[in-house]
Amino acid sequence: MISNIKKIVVLISGQGSNLQAIIDACASNELTAQVVAVISNKAEAKGLERAKKFAIPTVVKRKSPDQTRLEYDQELAELVASYQPDLIVLAGWMRVLSNAFLQNFPDKVINLHPALPGAFPGVNAIERAFNAFRLGEIQQTGVIVHFVPDEGVDSGPVLGQIVIPIYQQDTLATLTPRMHEAEHKLLISVLKNFLFRNT
Ligand code: GRF
Repeated sequence: MISNIKKIVVLISGQGSNLQAIIDACASNELTAQVVAVISNKAEAKGLERAKKFAIPTVVKRKSPDQTRLEYDQELAELVASYQPDLIVLAGWMRVLSNAFLQNFPDKVINLHPALPGAFPGVNAIERAFNAFRLGEIQQTGVIVHFVPDEGVDSGPVLGQIVIPIYQQDTLATLTPRMHEAEHKLLISVLKNFLFRNT
């Protein structure tokens, strides 16, 4: 019998709360999928502990100083390919992947970003959106899940988004958890549609 359980490799650099959302959705069968590996470019990433608790294989893959970006990305691609994933999720992965990596996985790499399409690419997007709100430049922000077809930062075809209003009484401390909560919800809903779109 051919297994219908889809294999996901998750790349992280930090907290791993989105990784946790995927793990929980797999554990509860909300998602008929399995996280087959968690790879971090940082040994101290908290997400590694989350994976270990669920007996998910983890690998720390740091870029050594004498290695070029291309060499690193090629090695990373080989490592990821060894798990034969159906999908690769960049869940707080803080390196821009080059084509040396991406060309190996067409239509298989997705990323999350805590901002609306085209807005605030790169780091500290929630904080930058909140500052723009205080300057009266925006009234809302949001979260997206998108394909990573090329080296563009937080760009690529959008698979799903949630718009998040910012309220006058908000502080960065109240907005941030609201954003993360939405991100976790969006991620699982996109994964469900994406992984089982042809089944
Ligand atoms: C998320 O906000 C994601 O959108 C961004 O990095 C953060 C990672 O959070 N790319 P976590 O490590 O999943 O908790």
